[in-house]
Amino acid sequence: MKSAEIREAFLRFFEEKGHTRVASSSLIPANDPTLLFTNAGMNQFKDCFLGLEKRAYTRATTSQKCVRAGGKHNDLENVGYTARHHTFFEMLGNFSFGDYFKRDAITYAWEFLTSDKWLALPKDKLWVTVYASDDEAYDIWTKEVGVPAERMVRIGDNKGAPYASDNFWAMGDTGPCGPCTEIFFDHGEGIWGGPPGSPEEDGDRYIEIWNNVFMQFNRTADGVLHPLPAPSVDTGMGLERISAVLQHVHSNYEIDLFQNLLSASAQAIGCANDGAPSLKVVADHIRSCGFLIADGVLPSNEGRGYVLRRIIRRACRHGNKLGASGSFFHKIVAALVQEMGAAYPELSAQQAHIERVLKTEEEQFAKTLEQGLRVLEQDLAGLQGKVIPGEVIFKLYDTYGFPVDLTGDIARERELTLDEEGFEREMQAQRERARSASAFGMDYNALVRVEGQTQFTGYSHTQGQGRVLALFKAGQAAEQLVAGDEAVVVLDQTPFYAESGGQAGDCGYLLANGVRFEVRDTTKTAGGAFLHHGVLVSGSVAVGATLEAQVDAEVRQASALNHSATHLLHAALRQVLGDHVQQKGSLVHSQALRFDFSHFEAVKPEQLKTLEALVNAEIRKNTLVETEETDIETAKAKGAMALFGEKYGDQVRVLSMGQGFSVELCGGIHAQRTGDIGLFKITSEGGVAAGVRRIEAVTGAGALEYFTQAETQLKEAAGLVKGSRDNLLDKLSGLLDRNRQLEKELEQLKAKAASAAGSELANEAVEVKGIKVLATRLEGQDGKALLALVDQLKNKLGSALILLGSVVDDKVVLVAGVTPDLTAKLKAGELMKQAAAVVGGKGGGRPDMAQGGGTDTSRLDEALALATQFVEQGA
Ligand code: SER
Repeated sequence: MKSAEIREAFLRFFEEKGHTRVASSSLIPANDPTLLFTNAGMNQFKDCFLGLEKRAYTRATTSQKCVRAGGKHNDLENVGYTARHHTFFEMLGNFSFGDYFKRDAITYAWEFLTSDKWLALPKDKLWVTVYASDDEAYDIWTKEVGVPAERMVRIGDNKGAPYASDNFWAMGDTGPCGPCTEIFFDHGEGIWGGPPGSPEEDGDRYIEIWNNVFMQFNRTADGVLHPLPAPSVDTGMGLERISAVLQHVHSNYEIDLFQNLLSASAQAIGCANDGAPSLKVVADHIRSCGFLIADGVLPSNEGRGYVLRRIIRRACRHGNKLGASGSFFHKIVAALVQEMGAAYPELSAQQAHIERVLKTEEEQFAKTLEQGLRVLEQDLAGLQGKVIPGEVIFKLYDTYGFPVDLTGDIARERELTLDEEGFEREMQAQRERARSASAFGMDYNALVRVEGQTQFTGYSHTQGQGRVLALFKAGQAAEQLVAGDEAVVVLDQTPFYAESGGQAGDCGYLLANGVRFEVRDTTKTAGGAFLHHGVLVSGSVAVGATLEAQVDAEVRQASALNHSATHLLHAALRQVLGDHVQQKGSLVHSQALRFDFSHFEAVKPEQLKTLEALVNAEIRKNTLVETEETDIETAKAKGAMALFGEKYGDQVRVLSMGQGFSVELCGGIHAQRTGDIGLFKITSEGGVAAGVRRIEAVTGAGALEYFTQAETQLKEAAGLVKGSRDNLLDKLSGLLDRNRQLEKELEQLKAKAASAAGSELANEAVEVKGIKVLATRLEGQDGKALLALVDQLKNKLGSALILLGSVVDDKVVLVAGVTPDLTAKLKAGELMKQAAAVVGGKGGGRPDMAQGGGTDTSRLDEALALATQFVEQGA
């Protein structure tokens, strides 16, 4: 069976068992700052397990994109060296939210794996583990399903703490968790390894293929396990592992999915496709990198971007090991798109963007390596002994991105060793720093959690009544607020728009008799409760009270105009620049709009003009902004632009403008007619990352303000040059001409003055042992002026030694000159060495001309006096 067929069979099996097929969510977890990347199928459902989010179904099945690199479940360093670890993989899962529990989960899994109608795996090849104390699961397996006791293994807390066990699964340090039962496949005697729980369990013979978690608890930061509202099920089966079993290969890298990726990798690198671990690393990493970039991650120095950067660099390094010259990694994207683009259209749509990002990163890494190599050379030159210290290895690694094993290779070539312990110490310290700085370690339960949803009435209203469902002070639930409290108010219904889709949350007031709560921002929880953040200015509010919600309509309208203009701009960008333009970020508030999109070069000035013209033409057409609620498939069929990775519900809102000019999925607040936008003006265009550009713009009153300001500046500028708007440019270019002319005249006058000064100075020369010596100080002359003067003086005096000094910007400048007839005996360079030393500096030069300087201005006269002594000693 091909991987694609297995994926489909799994989803179909669970559909037949009453599950709803749900699309994979983005690799960037929605509304969850506790998680680096989506690392399991259950991530998108975690609030369903906690009872905070209700969906239309209680059974779901998915094939979920997952990345495990960084964070709690991190497989990065194993990848390439084992048969079964990946940075990116697809997890097949079935989920029950308070519906079925252990018995059904176990019997479904067994039926799918062993029934002839489905995967038909030989039962005697399957082993099962249960959490040590889970007798219920053990009995279902042995007594009902019939797995013999000799292939059953109980696993306890084998990871050093209560509930720290291979058979107790948790998404993170806090949040939903529970005991699990895992199904293993025995790949046969030919492969080394022992059954789960045995000392040889890390071998590749017995491979875990399916994990069934019985979600029962919510773990809080104090380590306490609180029972979930209803016991649930979360299962996960790696598509790659089960494919290996069904395709009778033992390594995931031998399955159909990887064949093309491996050969494309070998081709891009220019090496043999011979199963080398490094080649597997590259073929694995192109999947995580491609998918992460498609979901909007860009390489950077922190958070998700940093992990992506590390994966790309690891791939580059393994490619280099195999002899790649130049950048190769981006060349494998095409094969990835061919292999997986049908199941994941975000890849095909963004192929060019992914390639561009990878290529830029590869090139940058090549430079980094070069630089690191130079630094290493310098450090090695000063090295005493035969060990490269941990700090040096760490500096190279951390500052220059220079991989440790490369440092190790170089060390070996020179018969040096690495201070690995020292390096580990530095790394540990770095990890501590990263952990304390990272928001991803945050306690999931510390987020405000509210039972129940808020009904949003704000598409048609900016006012309306709502009943207080909950109150929070400093993140803690409260029964009552008093004047002065900073708090969060949750209502059962509200016209306040909560920040999402790039549009800022509404501000305004919640009012009642004597009560005034100033709302400064509105957000919403994953479960759909709207949080009004602000301050109680007067009165008191208790849970259950009724408040009159009043959105600041002016601010809201300005945001709405900016939001509608963003859609017009998006459509215009695709018309003017091409279909490769994809939204990469958007921020809309009352002051301005900001739109990030994929494009490979600066948008040219004439293109910006065209964009403005197109958007403004749509504004003047003044068409109705239309919205329609429909299901996602109908919306897509209408050509609605959806954001890859965005979490859309079953019903979506389609927003159309300009009779098809722009059709997008959007839950935001918009103008009623395009004409409301009034005017659209781009204020800046620039790059934000490789392949991503940013346009900022203003609309409506903001645009008028922009022009008014520009006009005021223009008028002020015209006033300064005593002109008008009409002749300002002529005036300015006239002034610039005049300025150039004056500069020229000034230069000439300076030269004349210097020459006159030179004649006077020449008279100051004294005779020492028959040689004319001129040593004097001049005020405020820089080195260039002194050089010119020394030249003139040499001409005037014919035969002489000259030393001039001056103080400029608190520093001494010295110039010495000797006419050619005297350079055999008296060398300007030598005089300068001595003179500069006196003023605490350095100097030197040729026998006929030398320059120097120092910082000790108090000793300039002493330095000048050296000239006479120099002649007395030398001549
Ligand atoms: N969440 C569990 C896992 O990732 C089962 O899906 O293993």
